[in-house]
Amino acid sequence: MRLHALFIGLAWLAAAPAEAQVTPAYLDETIPVEERIEDVLNRMTTEEKVAIIHAQSKFSSAGVPRLGLPEIWTTDGPHGIRPEVFWDQWDQAGWTNDSCVAFPALTCLAATWNPEMARLYGKSIGEEARYRKKDVILGPGVNIYRTPLNGRNFEYMGEDPYLAARMVVPYIRGVQENGVATCVKHFALNNHEVNRHNTNVVVDDRALYEIYLPAFKAAVQEGGTWAIMGAYNLYKGQHACHNKYLLNDILKKEWGFDGVVISDWGGTHHTMEAIQNGLDLEFGTWTNGLAGGAKKAYDNYHLALPYLRLIREGKVGTDELNDKARRVLRLMFRTTLNPHRPLGSMLSEAHYDAARRIAEEGIVLLQNKGGLLPIDLSRVKKIAVIGENAIKMMTVGGGSSSLKVQHECTPLDGIRRRVADSVEVVFARGYVGDVSGEYNGVTTGQDLRDDRTPDVLRDEAVRTATQADYVIFFGGLNKSAGQDCEDADRAGLSLPYGQDSLIAALAKANKNLIVVNVSGNAVAMPWADDVPAIMQVWFLGSEAGNAIAAVLTGDVPPSGKLPFTFPAKLEDVAAHSLNAYTGERKRGIVDIEYKESIFVGYRWADKHTDKEPLFPFGHGLSYTTFDYGKPRVDAKSMFPDGKVTVSVRVKNTGKRTGQETVQLYVSDKKASLPRPVKELKGFQKVTLAPGEEKEVSFIVTREALSFFDDRKHAWVAEPGTFEALIGASATDIRGRVAFTLKTDD
Ligand code: GLC
Repeated sequence: MRLHALFIGLAWLAAAPAEAQVTPAYLDETIPVEERIEDVLNRMTTEEKVAIIHAQSKFSSAGVPRLGLPEIWTTDGPHGIRPEVFWDQWDQAGWTNDSCVAFPALTCLAATWNPEMARLYGKSIGEEARYRKKDVILGPGVNIYRTPLNGRNFEYMGEDPYLAARMVVPYIRGVQENGVATCVKHFALNNHEVNRHNTNVVVDDRALYEIYLPAFKAAVQEGGTWAIMGAYNLYKGQHACHNKYLLNDILKKEWGFDGVVISDWGGTHHTMEAIQNGLDLEFGTWTNGLAGGAKKAYDNYHLALPYLRLIREGKVGTDELNDKARRVLRLMFRTTLNPHRPLGSMLSEAHYDAARRIAEEGIVLLQNKGGLLPIDLSRVKKIAVIGENAIKMMTVGGGSSSLKVQHECTPLDGIRRRVADSVEVVFARGYVGDVSGEYNGVTTGQDLRDDRTPDVLRDEAVRTATQADYVIFFGGLNKSAGQDCEDADRAGLSLPYGQDSLIAALAKANKNLIVVNVSGNAVAMPWADDVPAIMQVWFLGSEAGNAIAAVLTGDVPPSGKLPFTFPAKLEDVAAHSLNAYTGERKRGIVDIEYKESIFVGYRWADKHTDKEPLFPFGHGLSYTTFDYGKPRVDAKSMFPDGKVTVSVRVKNTGKRTGQETVQLYVSDKKASLPRPVKELKGFQKVTLAPGEEKEVSFIVTREALSFFDDRKHAWVAEPGTFEALIGASATDIRGRVAFTLKTDD
């Protein structure tokens, strides 16, 4: 009997169709993923390897259909998931199911000084990307704020490398837990927009390693980002998208980056450099990032047929090709080939809640003379809301981070919704700035046209102001060209559209004036002494109005702190004081020397105390007050492999619950090379009820004491005396305590 059964079994097996599907080994999860990557690589032809290392459409790259490897889809941007575009165009494709939640711009996230908000941000935007079947988010950006004129500072995380590093890591982890890659950008030294394709940055190693690289290094080594985007500019004469120094030497060798280097769109200019200098996935060639280019040009990309020809002609080997393809395959296994990815979600209440919470925590109360804020609605009959930025949608425009939102609550909407029928809210336009509302075919639907003259508009605004209990002016910038926008810088520090004189007139008309500045950059405020309350809000996204109204009325206490210095005037900024920036568009390579070296932002201001900032780095008021005790150390000295714990008690001495971000700066009292007076090396945001007191502690290790010694090409911490400074901002130092670093025991 058994023999009979065996015969039948063998017969069945012999008859089994040859194409019986078995899971290919490279999808067998019992095999280590790196072995599976090698397995796939060995199965691929040279043509297939070349096919996966360059774009096949505006935002996607090819898979390998023969092996069942899916395409990779990328999407902008750092603040929300961009609408679908046509296969080979920038313009949106007009889908009806691709609206998104717009989260606040990343300057707002940095201004929260709260890594939990960064994690929430990454998780939420990662869910939206996953649901939209996107495998790579083209962001976040962490380029350092070197000039307040940079059109894209609103997409970045401020002037300090430590703050940017601490905030980018949780964002990355939050996104990537969805099986979606972040593509941290723009690596590196993309610190202004004018001449962005032809600027060759000349910078010393100290500034490169101490200021411009740390956030990227943290993104790689702590955040584990699966992709990095090369910048448009050049460094040492090579475009950053194929730069031996930045990509091969630093990113991949020194830092051990195992992910994919993606070019910026139109950032690839040279075939052999693209092959040899670390570029892994070429996108957007034939376009300068935002303009039209050759259609269906993908086979002409540098890493396409030109590369294949060089290989076939024996002019280049395949080592670089295998490394590129291996990295792209690794990205696939982390995303499209990951069967355990969550499903994602979109437009959920949780995402709107996250957008609102991040916005609320990022709003910075710059000034509040006489405690004018919060507005006590029980004692107010009429509020005048004035200014175009109270009604203008800000989610459309600004460049590649432009979005098509499901909805956006404007400041006027938010205030009206919050006060309901209890208070009369009247509006006056005040000025006409930018009436457009379109980008890549996405329109806001707003008709902001207003043909009245500036004088008529101003007279109406002043008249409206005189008749109200409170006046809230919404001004600032608006992401139109030259007003915080990609591919253009601002012409100066001043507000546009005659806002300064209008604000001065409103200050005369009503003493209860609150100025709410909407921008991603510092602006000049010549009227600051005449305005009791000033609030810095960012481009806050879908929940802008609700967040602003909550803070204005005290539902939520303001807790944001500036992620960059507000200079009193442009000449107080290092890059401008040293004539180390040009706003002039030029042809050919434009060398820009970062003459200030490491002295950027407060690091510069601390060395030039005659140039008092208007508002310092780390500044932000609350609706309560905080008292700091004397900082203490648990030991007066430490060995290089040891640590010192700095502690300080903080007490809420006011009548309202509030959040305070306690900042730790470290000062090296004697070093063999120039160092800043102090540098941010820790921060903690604490919530305190009235009268409540908490102890905040910081662990200081050698890393916090080190500087990059370009003579040795190494980080060094020199023995000697250091000071820990505890502050509520870079200039509001509440206490300091010394300790020493001993030599090696
Ligand atoms: C743009 C930007 C980059 C963006 C890319 C795709 O030019 O520089 O940040 O992700 O092209 O839109």
